[in-house]
Amino acid sequence: MSQLFSPYTLSAANGELTLPNRWVIAPMCQYSADEGLANDWHLTHWTNMLNAGAGMFIIEATAVSALGRITPGCLGIWDQQRGDALGEHLQRARRLAPATPVCIQLAHAGRKGSSEAPWRGGGQIALDDGGWVCQAPSALPHAPHEQAPQAMSLGEIDDLRQAFQDAAQRAAQAGIDAIELHGAHGYLLHQFLSPLANQRDDDYGGDWQGRTRLVRELFADVSAVFKGPVGVRLSATDWVEGGWGPEDTVRLSQWLREAGASFVHISTAGVSPLQKIPVAPGFQLPFAQQVKAATGLTTIGVGLVTEPDQAEAALTQGQVDLIALARGVLFNPRWGWSAAAALGGRVQASPQYQRALPANARSICKIKSASSCTHAKSPSKA
Ligand SMILES: Cc1cc2nc3c(=O)[nH]c(=O)nc-3n(C[C@H](O)[C@H](O)[C@H](O)COP(=O)(O)O)c2cc1C
Repeated sequence: MSQLFSPYTLSAANGELTLPNRWVIAPMCQYSADEGLANDWHLTHWTNMLNAGAGMFIIEATAVSALGRITPGCLGIWDQQRGDALGEHLQRARRLAPATPVCIQLAHAGRKGSSEAPWRGGGQIALDDGGWVCQAPSALPHAPHEQAPQAMSLGEIDDLRQAFQDAAQRAAQAGIDAIELHGAHGYLLHQFLSPLANQRDDDYGGDWQGRTRLVRELFADVSAVFKGPVGVRLSATDWVEGGWGPEDTVRLSQWLREAGASFVHISTAGVSPLQKIPVAPGFQLPFAQQVKAATGLTTIGVGLVTEPDQAEAALTQGQVDLIALARGVLFNPRWGWSAAAALGGRVQASPQYQRALPANARSICKIKSASSCTHAKSPSKA
């Protein structure tokens, strides 16, 4: 019996969510919205992802304010028009694909905003070329050559809290099943957490309590209005001496567990160009394992997990509760089908595709070679 293809229930104070299996599509920015509005690209991409056979699909970092976009093309949910566009496109995608739980990542880019899309180089956009002044905990640029962001006032932090809460309500209206707060990869919430980016001397800076205050407040704000699982994505380490680290992450995850979080999603890095990352298969899973062992909070692991056996082992060895893939699903949107075939699991698919499902294929092909499968040779029944 495959662990990867066993259901998993995310518990929440006000409504649990059962995932049909334990692999998750990690959030991936598409940089393709029109002024934050979902469009045909999202319809196509989401339909594709909902047909991947995942246990849950996490929609890309979605900006809670226009200033909080990474690029001008980032998806937004900062007003009703954007929330409605997101909901309409999601509804249409859902009509074309099997029921898959959908989570959304609510995000603010902080000092990493006002950037070009990666395929345009990803550099900072100048103010006189359509860029904007970014907000951040402190007026420290991400890289020395970049324009410094503006340190947020206490009033702007209050506005941000309202923006996250409003976004969570719009997500609920759009039919979203779960929310992930983006506290990783050097974006605004991570900037508040890390002493490398947060040098405030008020209640939102200084010691661990001060630097984690915003994340803790936002978790409480969003949980108060969203009926369903709410979790947080964290970078377990900055990979820089003197930065945010694994013990900070365990402590915050412990707080989140006690506050009723449904999951924590453990990634690493992103807050400093000085980071030195020892990239290797599954290199971030030990951090997830540490959080899971110390806190018992549902833990999602991610990062260079590409093989079904590797994903299965991370679960059976108790490293993580759920495993997320990003690039592997863009490379092969049927990764889940292949994994199900390899591990003896089942996945759902649109009826048009069902005859190609691994379980069906196995039974059809049992007494014949794959090249002479009935389903591959009978166009009259197509
Ligand atoms: C195209 C692309 C877009 C991404 N966008 C996001 C994002 O919106 N939010 C986020 O937290 N991580 C984002 N990531 C990081 C992934 O979620 C994931 O953590 C990372 O790619 C490592 O997983 P992988 O080795 O399976 O690709 C993105 C990655 C890619 C490749």
